[in-house]
Amino acid sequence: MSSGKLIPRRSILKGTAAAASMGPLFASAATAGKAGSDIGGLLTGPPQKNPTMIGVPFEKHDVIRFGVIGTGVRGTTTLAEMLKFPGVEVTAICDVLPSKTGDAVKLIESMGKPVPAVVVDGDHGFERLVERDDVDFVYIATPWEWHFPQAMAALKAGKHVGCEVPLSYDLEEMWQLVDASEAARKHCMMLENCCYDYDELLVLNMVRAGAFGELVHGEAAYNHDLRSILLGTSDRGKWRRHHHTLRDSNLYPTHGLGPVANYMNINRGDRFKSIVSMSSGCFGLNQYREDHVAKGDPMFAEKYICGDYNTSLIKTDKSKSVLLQHNESLPRPYDRINLIHGTKGVFRGYPSRIYLDADVKDDKDLDVWKNLDPYKEKYEHSLWRLEGEIARKTGGHGGMDYLMMYRLVECLREGLVPDMDVYDATTWSAPGPLSQISVAGGSIPIDFPDFTRGRWEAKRDSIPS
Ligand SMILES: NC(=O)c1ccc[n+]([C@@H]2O[C@H](COP(=O)([O-])OP(=O)(O)OC[C@H]3O[C@@H](n4cnc5c(N)ncnc54)[C@H](O)[C@@H]3O)[C@@H](O)[C@H]2O)c1
Repeated sequence: MSSGKLIPRRSILKGTAAAASMGPLFASAATAGKAGSDIGGLLTGPPQKNPTMIGVPFEKHDVIRFGVIGTGVRGTTTLAEMLKFPGVEVTAICDVLPSKTGDAVKLIESMGKPVPAVVVDGDHGFERLVERDDVDFVYIATPWEWHFPQAMAALKAGKHVGCEVPLSYDLEEMWQLVDASEAARKHCMMLENCCYDYDELLVLNMVRAGAFGELVHGEAAYNHDLRSILLGTSDRGKWRRHHHTLRDSNLYPTHGLGPVANYMNINRGDRFKSIVSMSSGCFGLNQYREDHVAKGDPMFAEKYICGDYNTSLIKTDKSKSVLLQHNESLPRPYDRINLIHGTKGVFRGYPSRIYLDADVKDDKDLDVWKNLDPYKEKYEHSLWRLEGEIARKTGGHGGMDYLMMYRLVECLREGLVPDMDVYDATTWSAPGPLSQISVAGGSIPIDFPDFTRGRWEAKRDSIPS
C-alpha cells in the first residue's frame, strides 16, 4: 500500500529559514534550515477569502448519514458508537483492505443495522465515498498521512468532516483545511474524545465557576507506553512506528491539549502565542526492539529519530503557560497529566487530586491533596449526569467516546454550533510541526499561528456546561 504525504519537508524548511530571519534568538535555526520562504506566511496563513466558521451552526438533520473512511481499530469502535443513536445511519464505509470493511459490515449487521455501501478501491477509493449523495458527514480514522487528503476531498465535496487525531502534522495543510472549511461552509472538526472524559468536564465546570480563581498554568500530555503496538506485527503498529523514523517532535499533542485549551478558553478569549520545545534522545524503541524483536527482523533496519520525551512550553497571549509532553516509547503508566492551576487552587489528574485555598481550614490541610469526590455533586457535568450510566456501560474509553458522539449527534440533529471547529483542530494539532521546528533549531521559540485570524478574543463556549 502506498501512502499519503509523509514528510512535512516544506514546513520545516520554511520554519527554520524564517526563524533565521527573526534575529539573534533564532540564530541556531539558521544552521538547521537550508532553504524556504518566510514562516510568517505559515503564522498568519493566506489572505482570508471566505467568512469564518466560528459560531456557524450545523444545518438540522432528521437523519444523520455518516460515511466512514478507515475501518481499522478506531474506525470500527467509533462506528459502533454512532449506531447507538436513533436517527443515525452509516451509509458508506471505505478501507483499502476488504478484510477491514468485512469486519465492519459484520459488526453493523450484529447491531441490526442496514448494511452500508462498501468502497474498497485502492488508496484513493475514499474519493468515491465523499462524492456520495447519501453521506452528510465524513468520519476519518486512517493513518495520519491520509487525514489531509481525505478531509480536503470531503470538504470539496460539500461534506462536514470529523477527523481522528491529529488533524495534520503540517502547518501548510492546516491552513488549507481552514480555508477549505470556510469555502465549503462545512465544519472540519477533530473528534477529540478526551475533551469529554469525566474529570475533564467536571474540572471545566469548576474552572467556569471560578473555583481555581484566575488560571495561570496548565499541563497536558500523551504519555502512553505504546511500545508493544509500535513494534508489534500489526499494520497499525507499522504505520504509526514509521512516523518515529520521520520526525523528532510531539507526534500526538491533542489528547492532553484539547481539554486544557478548553479550560483556558483558547480561541475563545485567549490564544497560544509562542512555543518552545525540547526532545530527549531516542532510546526506548531501540531497547524494546533489542529485547523483544527476533534478530534479523527487517525492523532492525529502521532508524528511529523521535525523542522519547518531547516537552514543549506554550505561552498564551494573556500570559498563561502550558507544559505539553509526549512520550510513547518508555515503560510507564498512562498519563495525560491534565493539570490546571490558578490563583485559588490546582487540579491534577492521574490520579485525580485537588488543592484549593478554600479547603484549607487549619494547618493539617496545608500541602495535602484532596480527593475529587466531594466536588462531584456540585460540579459533575450535565452530559455525565444525564448519560453517564449508559456511557460507562457501553462506551469506549470509559464512556467518553459515547459522550463525544452523543454530543456530536445532538449538534447535528438540532442544528447547533459544534463544540470544536477547524480552528480548534488546527490549534491543538499545531504543536506537532511547531515542536519539530523548535527542536530542529535547538529549542528555539516559535510564534504560534493564529488560525482564527484575529477572532480569538471573542468569548464563546466550547462544550456547554
Ligand atoms: N481518539 C482516539 O482515542 C484514538 C484511538 C486510536 C486511534 N486514533 C486515531 O485513529 C486513526 C486510526 O488509528 P487506528 O489505531 O484505528 O489504526 P488502524 O491501522 O487500526 O486503522 C487504520 C485503517 O485505515 C485504513 N487505511 C489506510 N489507508 C487508507 C486509505 N487511503 N483509505 C482508506 N482506508 C485506509 C487501514 O487499512 C486501516 O484499516 C489514527 O488517526 C489514530 O491516531 C484515535
